[in-house]
Amino acid sequence: MDNYILAIESSCDDTSASIIHNGKIINNIIASQDVHKIYGGVVPELASRAHQSNIVPVVDLVVADAKIDKSMLSAIAFTRGPGLLGSLLVGTSFAKGMAMALNIPLISINHMEAHVLAHFIDDPKPEFPFLCLTVSGGHTQIVLVNDYLDMEVIGQTVDDAVGEAFDKAAKLLGLPYPGGPMIDKYAKQGNQDAYQFPDTNVPGLNYSFSGIKTAILYFLRDEVAKDKHFIEKNMHDICASIQAKLIDMLFDKLYKASRETGICNIAIAGGVSANSQLRKRLQEDAKSRNWKTFIPDFQYCTDNAGMIAMAAHFKFLAKQFEELTVAPDPRLKI
Ligand code: KG4
Ligand code: ZN
Repeated sequence: MDNYILAIESSCDDTSASIIHNGKIINNIIASQDVHKIYGGVVPELASRAHQSNIVPVVDLVVADAKIDKSMLSAIAFTRGPGLLGSLLVGTSFAKGMAMALNIPLISINHMEAHVLAHFIDDPKPEFPFLCLTVSGGHTQIVLVNDYLDMEVIGQTVDDAVGEAFDKAAKLLGLPYPGGPMIDKYAKQGNQDAYQFPDTNVPGLNYSFSGIKTAILYFLRDEVAKDKHFIEKNMHDICASIQAKLIDMLFDKLYKASRETGICNIAIAGGVSANSQLRKRLQEDAKSRNWKTFIPDFQYCTDNAGMIAMAAHFKFLAKQFEELTVAPDPRLKI
């Protein structure tokens, strides 16, 4: 059956909409919010207000761009969680209203599952089962993916997410928010062995990034006390060393997960998977470990409605529809 699904993503600070036609993404429009830059992080109340102003123009644009009429839509999908409550409320309420007005099914999507399912947008697509390292500003997870709608978290952070560690380190270095891409940029010309940071010991497949955040804070404080220009003089080396440590920590547990499960189909997803060194390291490992690796296109790594649309396609085929009474869930789990 010919179908068009409209998907809306509003979990954090990007208002995004996408249309998928019979499982093929037609477009993926993202309105980012610059309002948070001066605060050095996302301000939830401002994010929610910006979603309110952006959502109608973004949805109108995506429908017009797809050259369809709203009456041709077969379903409306939205991010139910996890995310910021005020932000999720805007997308959820809008989707519910539109589904009701058009009298079509509503599909709720878990944002973290959608990051994983972004792998089915373009070729090559992973074969089941595969492991997905999902790394973002709010999450760090190793997900065992058995099927499109059957996945389980087998390892995760016990405190901060790796994206938070990137952003916090960047803040300490005086770099603007979000700091992950800035660290990536400076690290390109730096020596990753210039500075060492301590190991953290967390059992099983879990992670902890709070210790390294503190270690970076003390390291910079001590060095700046000796030379107040330490950061400007060594920015490239500091960024390269921090980035290398964070990536080492991520890969240590990924190797362990692959050994323990015997799975060699390995994918990465989420905002931090846009990191150039992380992508390079995975490609190197593909050769040295005989892994089949899967890296999504840049535009589908950070938050976007394309991945919500892809997840919605699978739920549409499985007829997993939502009641109109559904509420957002900021702590929704896989
Ligand atoms: O998935 P995402 O867009 O939003 C959340 O769901 O959190 O991830 C955002 C995170 C931020 O912490 C940002 O600094 C990080 O992804 N990020 C990067 C890079 N691009 C985005 N971290 C390191 N290197 C990058 N190139
Ligand atoms: Zn995300």
